[in-house]
Amino acid sequence: MEIKEGKNIFSELKCVRCHSVSSQGIKTKKEKAAKDLSEIGNSYNLTNLKIWIKRETKINGKKHPLVYKGEDSDLDVLIDWLVGLKSNVKIK
Ligand code: HEC
Repeated sequence: MEIKEGKNIFSELKCVRCHSVSSQGIKTKKEKAAKDLSEIGNSYNLTNLKIWIKRETKINGKKHPLVYKGEDSDLDVLIDWLVGLKSNVKIK
């Protein structure tokens, strides 16, 4: 089985359509971009982020606009990676 990295999953699942992760050199082309996710791990924990991406919870009264169509296993890797980026620590 192919082992994917969080960074690759981020582009594969099109998160980059709306979000930058500037600490990792990832830039969205969207003009009115959603939040930069470089330090998302400082605001939310793993469990919260997973249910947010699966649209089982709301933030500020809204659900996440993207309907997640990927695998659960990819979501785990993706969110682990995102949460690990806290405070601009550079992770390759
Ligand atoms: C169609 C555009 C779009 C796509 C694609 C998208 N998002 Fe979002 N995302 C948003 C918007 C809009 C918000 C809420 C407002 C904001 O953060 O600007 C948001 C919020 C978030 C938040 C919470 C930010 C916060 O602090 O409140 C996280 C985490 C997040 N998205 C992760 C992802 C991940 C991971 C992917 C890929 C699986 C993804 N997003 C794909 C538009 C998008």
